Amino acid sequence: MSALLIRGRLLSFKRAPLGRDDAASYTYEADGAVLMVDGTIRASGSYGEVKDEAEDGVPEVDHRPHLIMPGFIDTHLHFPQMQVVGSYAANLLEWLNTYTFIEEQRFAEAEHAARIAVHFFDEMLRHGTTTAVAYCSVHKTSADAFFAESLKRNTRMIAGKVMMDRNAPEALRDTAQKGYDETKQVIADWNGKGRNHVAITPRFAITSTPEQIEAAGTLAREFPDLYVQTHLSENHEEIAFTCSLYPEAKDYTDIYARYGLLGNRTLLGHCIHLSDREADVLSEAGSVAVHCPTSNLFLGSGLFPLRRLTGREKPVRVGFATDIGGGTSYSMLRTLDEAYKIQQLLGERLNPLESFYFATRGNAEALSLADRIGTLEPGSDADVIVLNASATPAMALKMQAVTTLSEELFLLQTLGDDRAIAETYVAGEPAKSTLGKGA
Ligand code: GUN
Ligand code: ZN
Repeated sequence: MSALLIRGRLLSFKRAPLGRDDAASYTYEADGAVLMVDGTIRASGSYGEVKDEAEDGVPEVDHRPHLIMPGFIDTHLHFPQMQVVGSYAANLLEWLNTYTFIEEQRFAEAEHAARIAVHFFDEMLRHGTTTAVAYCSVHKTSADAFFAESLKRNTRMIAGKVMMDRNAPEALRDTAQKGYDETKQVIADWNGKGRNHVAITPRFAITSTPEQIEAAGTLAREFPDLYVQTHLSENHEEIAFTCSLYPEAKDYTDIYARYGLLGNRTLLGHCIHLSDREADVLSEAGSVAVHCPTSNLFLGSGLFPLRRLTGREKPVRVGFATDIGGGTSYSMLRTLDEAYKIQQLLGERLNPLESFYFATRGNAEALSLADRIGTLEPGSDADVIVLNASATPAMALKMQAVTTLSEELFLLQTLGDDRAIAETYVAGEPAKSTLGKGA
């Protein structure tokens, strides 16, 4: 049996906060503890109570005065784009064609994919992200490398081999049949192995023929418990090109709807420029619009209308994500900061409680996994992070002026990055302080 008790201030959300002072939406324990046994949270609450539940001799780590939260969840990023981050382009399609579709070709090679996978997981854990939803490249080798590294790290990850069979260099194209067959093989090899989940991953309608989108729909019907991920409505030029390729569809969303790709496990990256009709369709399907703020700003794609999507009569479910390598930071803290600024530009508010809800429980709900991750509830996976709001001199100085939990969270998201993650626990084991130590 492996057991560890960690002590600190606890914060875990029960539901979406309704406002800046919605104290009923979370539990906060000023002197709290989490008891982690064999990869699962056995107990969480006040230090005294949790300590009583622990068997004699269970080791303790005292993280006071830091904040203990569930690990961050990133609902959209691209594993083969670590070396694409910060590529200078005017817009999405130029960025894809000039850099991304060149770089992803390197993932045909198993050795390269395995080397980048090590870096990928190091960065996730350094930044306090314990679950991510990833696109691999078109090559099965890239998915194999990703999942093998995830198995080694014992992380709960969701990923898929990208399906793409047109409008890309030949070395990045499969076919409708090959995309179907290889996705099935990835499912057979990796789904449910360790804590790995496979996502059916047609890249987007531009890079898939109707035959391939149909094959993805067939997979979604054959494996109804699997996630589906793709991109939707990111950039005006992309939308116009997409609609020209599928003239029979009512709009971009209708392409995916027609082929049975919209369900309540479907994650749609970006969703910036949706019509009301499209938002209705997503709402009825229970599909998730994934907001990628640093990417949307970097590529100049547009301002995600969070309130228009969540506040409507037929609300759309949303998740938050980095979208590495269109995105510019691995940090969910940096991501929350940019999400806040986008809402400012739209004349809307995004309060810090809501932001941290989205990065944890909210994203877990977007993945229909809130019973496993995203909270400190007993029975959940022991994927936990420790946040230090005084991690840098500038943060420590500002922290002197902080008097409330909301202000502390706001400071963390405004000035914080990987330096604010004091520790990351994966399945109850320290995974940040041990990076590079071969543990
Ligand atoms: N649309 C299709 N592929 C991609 C990608 O790799 N990144 C982004 N941001 N959008 C996409
Ligand atoms: Zn993306």
